[in-house]
This record gives sequence, structure tokens and C-alpha cells, in this order.
Amino acid sequence: MSRGVVWLNGRLRPAARAAVPAFDRGLLFGDGIYETVRAYGGRLFRAREHLDRLAHSAARLELRLPLPAGALAAAMAKVVAANRLGDARVRLVVTRGVGPEPDLGAIARSRPTVLAYATPYAGPPEAERLGGVRAILARTARNSRRALDPAIKSLNLLNSFLARREAARAGARDAVMLNPEGKVAEGVASNVFFVRRGVLCTPALRAGILEGITRGIVLDLAGRLGIPVREGLFRPAALLGAEEVFLTASTIELLPLAALGARRYPAARPVTRALQAAYRVTVADELGRPAGA
Ligand code: PDD
Repeated sequence: MSRGVVWLNGRLRPAARAAVPAFDRGLLFGDGIYETVRAYGGRLFRAREHLDRLAHSAARLELRLPLPAGALAAAMAKVVAANRLGDARVRLVVTRGVGPEPDLGAIARSRPTVLAYATPYAGPPEAERLGGVRAILARTARNSRRALDPAIKSLNLLNSFLARREAARAGARDAVMLNPEGKVAEGVASNVFFVRRGVLCTPALRAGILEGITRGIVLDLAGRLGIPVREGLFRPAALLGAEEVFLTASTIELLPLAALGARRYPAARPVTRALQAAYRVTVADELGRPAGA
């Protein structure tokens, strides 16, 4: 597969010729972390916040980032430019690299591998942004915070993979995952919000979720728009009884659910629509281009 040019350990090179050693711990143990950043019109959105979260993930795993945040941001900007991309999804991956020996516990003196790559991406189609997508409640639970804490954005995505396969088998686009206590956690690769009696609700961080950057923006926008907000621990029944449900992620922005399992949501989504519009304005204001473009 040729996917243009990637940035690997300090250099741009053709994807087809960029290789990682056989004993890279990312390959052997899934020992690494990542971030996915949206680019609009060739410019990275909230790169700084993504890099702060990467640093947080690194610290939790005792992984030493080999480059300062500025250099990592520059690497992401370079892959976007080198592939002449406008709207794109940029992925920054850091593994612990090759250790002194291929042994899970041996991390001393490992040299981290850093990879940045970008693919064209303009978000979900307008029909989905307006009409929503179908999701299921996954049987696969989100990890416990006492295991691999979901607040760490790690390369170990197999738990998410299992939930995504469940969704695919059910003919759904996405899945909402519960935590080990059966409370609503988040989407497979997104956070989840719902509106009940005019209140915007979302699982609190203690539910065991990733602290989404889009989630933070949406909470901020809700405050500014005067929408009451509640963060807490919610049973799936709250989600099923909601008037509106939407997922958030840097890639998908705010994506409404048309249905969750057998429950279909009303097509009028006043709160979701107001927040979707406000989000677009935020992106446009920060990156200096027309809203909705
Ligand atoms: N995923 N929760 C999970 C488990 C995620 O993987 C993501 C993002 C989010 C939303 O985070 P943010 O708003 O900062 O993008 C929440 C990215 C898109 C990915 O896995 O590629």
C-alpha cells in the first residue's frame, strides 16, 4: 500500500519504504501511544492540546517522548504539506521503540519510534451530520481504569476493535461502550453526549474515558450558549430515554445518533444542531476560514 509520504524518526520518506525494526515494542507489545488530529485547509486544529494529551499518556506509561512538542507539531504539519493535503486526518504514533532485548519488562535505554502520517479526510458526509448514524450498545466493555486506563491513548486498540466488529455485525456504524460497572463510558473512538429534558449530559471522567478535546470544546460551547450541563455516571437507560444523542471526536466533530439499537431518536435535534454550528464557528475562528467551508 502506498500512502504518499510519511514522517518517520525525523525524516520524510515514501510510505512504501518507511520501515520499523522487527523488535519495535509497538509491534511486539502494542507498547505505544498516539493522537489523531484534524487538519482543515492544511492547518492543524488544536495540535497543542493533542500534544499535551500525548505527553500525559507518555507520562502514565513511563515513556520518554524523544522530541519536544514543537518538533512533533512540525512533523505533523510537514506530512500534511508534503502530501499536499487540505482536509486531513493526521496520526502521530510514538512507540517505545527497540529496547535492550525483546522482553516486556526491559525498557531501559529504548529508543522511541515516532511516526506521523496523514490521509485525506473531510469528516462524515453531510447526510450523516444531519440525519445521524446508527449505533449499538456494545457488549464489549471499556477497560477498567484499574487496568489499561482509557484516559491513556494507547496503541492497544483491540478492545475497541471488538466493539467495532460487534457494530459491523449488527449493521451499525458505531457502538457506545459501558464501563465495567455497566455505566455509560464512551463511543468506540469518541465521547458520547445526550440531551434529556434540555440538559446536556455526558459521562464524567471518572466513568473511565478518554478526556476528549472535542468533548472539552463542546462543554465550553454549551456554557457559552447557556445550555445546562451535567457530567455524571449514567445508566444505559438514560441514553435510551434521551431526546438527542451525539458522539464527539476530532475526526467526526459532533455526529448525531439516529438510533441506538432498537431505539430511534427524533429527527429534530435543536441542541446538537446549535452545538454543531458553534463548533464550526470555533474551528473557523481559530484557523481563519469561513464557517462550514
Ligand atoms: N479517537 N474516546 C476515544 C476512545 C477516542 O479514541 C477518541 C478519539 C475520543 C475523542 O477524542 P478527541 O475529541 O480528542 O478526538 C474519545 C481518535 C479520533 C482516533 O482514535 O483516531
